Amino acid sequence: MGMRKRTHMCGSVLTGDVGKQVVLKGWVQRARNLGGLIFVWLRDHTGIVQAVFDSTVLDPATFALAESLRGEFVIEVTGTVRSRAADAVNEKMATGAVEVAVDGLTVLNVSKTPPIYIDDDTNEQESLRLKYRYLDLRRPGLQSMLRFRHRVIKTLREYIDTLDFVEVETPILTKSTPEGARDYLVPYRLKPGLFYALPQSPQIYKQLLMLSGLDRYYQIARCFRDEDGRADRQPEFTQFDLEMSFVEPEDIQTVVEGAFQRVFQDVMNIPVSLPLKRITWRDAMARYGSDKPDTRFGMEISDVSETVRGCGFNVFETALENGQTVCAVCAKGAGKLSRRELDALGEFVKTYHVKGLAWAVPNEDGTVRSTFAKAMQGDSMSRLLARMDCQSGDALFVIADRRLVALTAMGQLRLRLGRDLGLIDTSRYDLLWVTEFPLLSFNEEENRFAAEHHPFTAVMDEDVPLMETDPGAVRAKSYDLVLNGVEMGSGSIRIHQSDLQSKMFSLIGLTLEEAQEKFGFLLEAFQYGTPPHGGFAFGIDRLVMVLSGADSLRDVLAFPKIQNGVCLMMDTPANVQQQQLDTLKITVDK
Ligand code: AMO
Repeated sequence: MGMRKRTHMCGSVLTGDVGKQVVLKGWVQRARNLGGLIFVWLRDHTGIVQAVFDSTVLDPATFALAESLRGEFVIEVTGTVRSRAADAVNEKMATGAVEVAVDGLTVLNVSKTPPIYIDDDTNEQESLRLKYRYLDLRRPGLQSMLRFRHRVIKTLREYIDTLDFVEVETPILTKSTPEGARDYLVPYRLKPGLFYALPQSPQIYKQLLMLSGLDRYYQIARCFRDEDGRADRQPEFTQFDLEMSFVEPEDIQTVVEGAFQRVFQDVMNIPVSLPLKRITWRDAMARYGSDKPDTRFGMEISDVSETVRGCGFNVFETALENGQTVCAVCAKGAGKLSRRELDALGEFVKTYHVKGLAWAVPNEDGTVRSTFAKAMQGDSMSRLLARMDCQSGDALFVIADRRLVALTAMGQLRLRLGRDLGLIDTSRYDLLWVTEFPLLSFNEEENRFAAEHHPFTAVMDEDVPLMETDPGAVRAKSYDLVLNGVEMGSGSIRIHQSDLQSKMFSLIGLTLEEAQEKFGFLLEAFQYGTPPHGGFAFGIDRLVMVLSGADSLRDVLAFPKIQNGVCLMMDTPANVQQQQLDTLKITVDK
């Protein structure tokens, strides 16, 4: 007995198989012993089928063995498929109309009682599930996630292959790549004090491949960034990374859009019409207060500075005198919110660095419930409400602050209201391009400019003169792809001239020496006939997360890390042996 060839998967034993002799292998989901009869649910990744052990037909040794079965034992059964009696049919099970009358049993392995239930509808503590991730992965939900993810990647590979892209693997042991996060460092044994850095992205290598004449590169690339974890951030993650020579932004966008269209079509069975919508960064900030707007609902932001000028409310007046902006949204149906709920929203926006939130709720009788109505002179309140088309039943929210700060806080409020008021159509998938990002962002703490995307991004032709006069206003040839308010990916046309690249390094505060030390090889490389080029990278983890409706990247990675970068299963990071440290000449200062 035992080790016969499997004839069926558990989930594929159906009415058409009635009468067949089958060999099944899998895990015991549960075993119910009714005395002379034992019902075992046998599970593999395709599903569950019921196996019946009958003491009146089985030899006593086999029946005794069946009595010893416990959850998660690995077994092989042989038997005959038969229809269940009408009253025993289980509608909830795909195989629920049949069962297997067992004639042979082999226990391939035993199992301790698992520390977590292996079932989709359990509410085990997440930390316990992550500690026993290998067991958690037995759950059907996570099994299908792994397969879903595989299908997404396979579809992307097939698509990009038709467009003459070549996959090239780039080094993991490399030098710092400036994507704005901290590097993970790897000590170099032969020269203590020297380190490799793990790549934050293959950015520099893919640009060098364009210089080498590859023309079209792609890679399913593992990237590493030592940054604080969030639901949409893991310390290591996977990019679909690409680069092309002799292209304009539209050429790259066309390739990327096509990839998304294909994935939506093949994996989700959802048609996507191209070209996708495009919005400039400036408009996205003005209308949605975000560079990754969720356009599945309206409630757009309005600049009401001119409407409230001279209104008498000193918060608005002072802001305007200081060159700041007053912006507003009208939340339809939010008039039902209580004073406490409205005040809670005020606390919420303060976490986005604005001083406060003014709100007004017009009543049916023409009066207004509001934090600032009393201060508004003459008809200025009714003018503001009219400008925002804010009627009874609605709520008006106003923020006065520095323009981008006010818009950003309002954008967050908009999202929160959209969620709280149920305005978001979760069956919808909104893909759009955000273009023309600023080249630089000003870092107030360090009092210097930083690259908004990365320092290899080219400037929009008409903005080149501004590089000398008003660097903060320069727009880049860069673009992000956004899906349902989540940034999927970023890309840009790159600088391909050595002198421009040097200028960019100096704009972001690198001295000549620093630029030479960090990127000397690149500046030199650029002197040997670099073609104009550009590219894009999107996060595969994020795409799978949004498509599968997951809330966190933890749900779409086989072996994720938690917030602080720890893997609960392996217990990493971990101590190393003193001898290893000695070899590397590392002393740890605890
Ligand atoms: P960027 O840094 O914007 O661009 O990254 C591109 C995409 O990678 C994903 N991503 C992440 N996913 C999970 N966890 C993280 N910590 C994380 N960080 C980034 C996001 C993001 O949009 N080299 C450039 C691309 C280019 O210019 O071609 C780059 O890496 O989905």
